[in-house]
Amino acid sequence: MKKTILVSLIALAGLVNMPLQAGDAGAGANAYNAKGCIGCHGMSGKQPIADYPAIGGKPADYIAAELNKFRSGERNNPIMMPMAAGLSDADVANLAAYLATQ
Ligand code: HEC
Repeated sequence: MKKTILVSLIALAGLVNMPLQAGDAGAGANAYNAKGCIGCHGMSGKQPIADYPAIGGKPADYIAAELNKFRSGERNNPIMMPMAAGLSDADVANLAAYLATQ
């Protein structure tokens, strides 16, 4: 009986933990280069070309929310929508974690 309760608690803790999992900043740094973000937003997201926005150092929640808006089309921009369309949920979390630390 005790064992069953313990196993259930561990399983429950795992479930509760899942959506709270933070992105992986190291993976985000790789994705930032590999997916070409650096080409427009610059080194660390802080040296954007032209008048593109600087995104390095912004809160992870903000970055993730805006990327998801580009993905859904809620935020309509002809440059960023196709960039965001190719991102997975994990990519968004990782990129947000990376950019927030810059
Ligand atoms: C071809 C140039 C280009 C590339 C490549 C690019 N972006 Fe952007 N990004 C822009 C532009 C332009 C905007 C401003 C869009 C707008 O005004 O709505 C923007 C906006 C953003 C914003 C919102 C910033 C804010 O202040 O609200 C985020 C976050 C972002 N980009 C992240 C990324 C990520 C992550 C990548 C790589 C997957 C990427 N961008 C690749 C041009 C680019």
